[in-house]
Formats: sequence, structure tokens, C-alpha cells
Amino acid sequence: MASFQHFLFVLSLFLSTSIACDRCVHQSKAAYFSSPASLLGGSCGYGSMALSFNGGYVAAASPDLYRDGMGCGACFQIRCKNPSLCSSGGVKVIVTDINKSTQTDFVLSTSAFTAMAKAGMTQDIKRLGIVDIEYKRIPCEYKNHNLSVRIEEISQKPNYLAIKVLYQGGQTDIHSIDVAEAGGWNWRFMTRNYGAVWNTSHAPAGPLQFRMVVTGGYDGMTVWPKKAIPGLEGRGGLRFGVAGHGDGTGGMFSL
Ligand SMILES: *[C@@H]1O[C@H](CO)[C@@H](O)[C@H](O)[C@H]1NC(C)=O
Ligand SMILES: *[C@@H]1O[C@H](CO)[C@@H](O)[C@H](O)[C@H]1NC(C)=O
Ligand SMILES: *[C@@H]1O[C@H](CO)[C@@H](O)[C@H](O)[C@H]1NC(C)=O
Repeated sequence: MASFQHFLFVLSLFLSTSIACDRCVHQSKAAYFSSPASLLGGSCGYGSMALSFNGGYVAAASPDLYRDGMGCGACFQIRCKNPSLCSSGGVKVIVTDINKSTQTDFVLSTSAFTAMAKAGMTQDIKRLGIVDIEYKRIPCEYKNHNLSVRIEEISQKPNYLAIKVLYQGGQTDIHSIDVAEAGGWNWRFMTRNYGAVWNTSHAPAGPLQFRMVVTGGYDGMTVWPKKAIPGLEGRGGLRFGVAGHGDGTGGMFSL
């Protein structure tokens, strides 16, 4: 009996890792959003920034890939399997939204969808609308950006802090984020509010530091950028990016 239970345990481990397999090639289908506006309101909360990511090659992913927001910012290489229509290299996209369609794992921006096509085949792939694909997760690379946080406008003095995490490189997932006053040890955990946005009602008032638990593959590690960013205190209502308020950087800080 015990050994049977052990077998079941091993089997379920095997099943869960094979389902979660992050480096495997998967077979599926992809469609595209005909209106670019559909991606602006993406569930990850990137807003219009999404269109500047990766040259606008972005995607809405199935709930299994979106993973309640943990999949926001993940990168995938997607190849369409029709050799007369598509090039073999495929396209690299970043997840910025969820799509609950049961037909596809990805709904791509139009530019990403047509980028899979061979030269001269753009209209043909658009006419098909939905294509067979294979895809795999790949590390994200940002040449001109480090991991950054953006303090969201809904943040409120003295203690309500909402941040958006941007430019997360590598093939990693963020499992938790803690915030403390710069130089201090009183860490308070943040909650994933939605998508790439995290919040807490217990933020310290002064300059802030963050630490994060990230996983890549099967390993977890704590990332602790020692860099501090300005806190909630001393900011006129936190109107980042609005003329005459804030620091004009959109409240974005590279860590
Ligand atoms: C999912 O994508 C399809 C396009 O394939 C679109 O018609 C539909 O509105 C999208 N659903 C959601 C919930 O965004
Ligand atoms: C990224 O971080 C490195 C090392 O801290 C720094 O030298 C570089 O200037 C940063 N780049 C940007 C775009 O912030
Ligand atoms: C933070 O996000 C969580 C999860 O969405 C939500 O339940 C909570 O109300 C938010 N906190 C505040 C103070 O708005």
C-alpha cells in the first residue's frame, strides 16, 4: 500500500512537472486581434506601454499561460507550421493580456501574427485568421532596460502603494515581492493586485527598497536589488508624469 502511494506521489509529480514544462515545445493554434486597441486594455495593466514592448509584438495568452497574472511579461517564440505560408524562425512575443478563447493558446497583435509569414504572404496569413503553431517559452531580453517598477497613480499617502513590474528579463516568474524602507529590515509583503500590478496598504513612508522571490525553471531565488527609490512621502498627490507634479519620469524606477 505504502509503495503504491509512493508510486502515485511520484506519478503526480511527474504529471505536474510535465504539464508545467517550461522549456518544452507545445503544439497549438494562434489567432490575431484585428484592432490594435484590443491590446491596449490588456489585463496585465501595461496600458499603452504594451505597444512599445518588443516593437509591438505582443500577445494575449490562454488562462493556463496567463496564470492569474504570473505569466504577464513572459516571452514566447511562436512558429506557424504551414511551410508554404510561414518562415521557420517564427516570432518572439511578450504576454500582455489574457484571452479565454478555447480555440487558441495565443491571440497575437496583427504585426506579430503577420511577422510569422514569409515575404509576400501577409495577406494570405491574415485571410486564414487562425493557424497551427508550435511554441516554447524563451528568456526575455531587454537591451535598453533593467528590471523596473512603476509607482501607480492610485498609490496614496501615507501607506497605500501600488507598483507595476516592468522589463523582467530571463525566463522567470515573480512569486512574491516585499517592500521596506531603504536600508531597513522591516519587510512588508505585497499582494498581486492584478496582472503585473502589486499592492500593499502597509508601505513605509520614506524611500523604498524591494526584494522579490523569482523562479526560473525549478529553482527559486531571492532577488534583492539594493537600490532605493523615492517613497510616497513628500510627493504632491503622486501625479507622476503630469506637468508640474512628480518627477516627469512617469514614476518609473530602474532597480
Ligand atoms: C479573444 O480573441 C478573439 C479573437 O480571436 C476575440 O474575438 C475575443 O474577443 C477575445 N476574447 C477576449 C476575452 O478578449
Ligand atoms: C542597468 O544596470 C546597470 C548595472 O547597474 C547600469 O550600468 C545600467 O546603466 C542600467 N541601464 C539602464 C538602462 O538603466
Ligand atoms: C490590493 O489588491 C488586492 C487583490 O486584488 C485587493 O483585494 C485589495 O483590495 C487591494 N488593496 C487595496 C488597499 O486596494
